[in-house]
Amino acid sequence: MRILLYSGKGGVGKTSVAAATGVRLAETGYRTLVMSVDPAHSLADSFDLESGLFHGSTSDPLEVAPRLWIHEVNIQKEIKRHWRQISAYITNVLRTSGLGEVEAEEMAIFPGMEELSAMMYVNQYRRETRFDVVVLDCAPTAESLRFVSMPTTLDWYMKHIFPLHRGILKAVRPLANRVAPIELPPDTYFANVKDLFDKISGIDALMEDPETTSIRLVTNAEKMVVRETQRAFVYFSLHGLTVDQIIVNRVLPDDIRDDFFDEWRASQKRFLDETERYFAPVPMKRVPLFRHEVVGIERLGNLAAALYADGADPAQVTRVERPYTFVKAGDHYEVRVQVPFTEKAEVGLFKKGDELVVEVGTVRRHIGLPTSMIALQPVRARLESRMLVVEMKEAS
Ligand SMILES: Nc1ncnc2c1ncn2[C@@H]1O[C@H](COP(=O)(O)OP(=O)(O)OP(=O)(O)O)[C@@H](O)[C@H]1O
Ligand SMILES: [Mg+2]
Repeated sequence: MRILLYSGKGGVGKTSVAAATGVRLAETGYRTLVMSVDPAHSLADSFDLESGLFHGSTSDPLEVAPRLWIHEVNIQKEIKRHWRQISAYITNVLRTSGLGEVEAEEMAIFPGMEELSAMMYVNQYRRETRFDVVVLDCAPTAESLRFVSMPTTLDWYMKHIFPLHRGILKAVRPLANRVAPIELPPDTYFANVKDLFDKISGIDALMEDPETTSIRLVTNAEKMVVRETQRAFVYFSLHGLTVDQIIVNRVLPDDIRDDFFDEWRASQKRFLDETERYFAPVPMKRVPLFRHEVVGIERLGNLAAALYADGADPAQVTRVERPYTFVKAGDHYEVRVQVPFTEKAEVGLFKKGDELVVEVGTVRRHIGLPTSMIALQPVRARLESRMLVVEMKEAS
């Protein structure tokens, strides 16, 4: 199963590009699911589904064309399906602290639940071999990053914190529940957490495998958007994911003669050139600004025709270069991480247990070291064209 994840700044055209790609894939013969992971869903709107008729029915895969399904992950449904114990406990605590029932239920939806639910589905679909391609329509960049970093964060929690919490609580619960101001979580809560964790297990390996998962960044030819795209590229690489396409949407067509657009056209050209140069060898694709909104299967088909004008198969694996690699170089080892567009001042590094922790700007990534490198310490780091090279040696 292939996973294609579309991310980018708010409003650039992620949903349209993801939906159009779904249309093309289904026409090519793939059983395709387009799944929206953005809590502000617009996938059904993009396919122009009558909201009255289809209301709520996209919270499970809904077939909208031959071989094409859409799924908008619905948090209320997911809470009933997956999060019952956890949210029941949190709601209970919030109620004890004086919140009304409805407010407590609202508050018990915490950030990440939606993304985690989406991951469980991706994992489930992979096991069931129900789809050939899953296209993920993500929320703007920051939330997409939370989505991709979730498995490692959870893994860390499950390894380091979870057993501790569970163990301590087991011991102190009988006494503490008599004196503590709030009730401590029951063991079913932990069982639920464990169960959820099992459901996403393996997804990190799947996301980091370039043969399975490709990240595609949608952008516009404008300064602020291009800058965010560059940051997104670094962050995704840091998380071990492979970006294999940059899609510049809403490019002014050449045949627009109105001089009102002259300046727009000149600046777009500048940013198109810059984008192409910056991201090379990652290929850049262009989609023109259409005369109208891109809504409904036919118009999505037109967008797909522009995007895949070269006849390319959207599911094809085009880049397998890993965003970071471990190499032996003479008397030392190196961890090499792709971080184009990064300044030295933004990079932080340290070793923690069997992990190398790399920080770029506000994003932190724990890179698990291979066994042969666990005993080594980072001694030096340099930025080498588009790479951060960390030298690792035995501590003397
Ligand atoms: N190339 C294009 N030409 C004309 N209209 C477009 C084009 N691409 C997208 N649109 C329109 O722009 C609007 C926003 O697009 P879309 O919803 O795909 O963006 P998005 O990045 O998913 O936004 P959000 O960040 O809110 O999820 C939609 O109305 C869509 O139909
Ligand atoms: Mg969208």
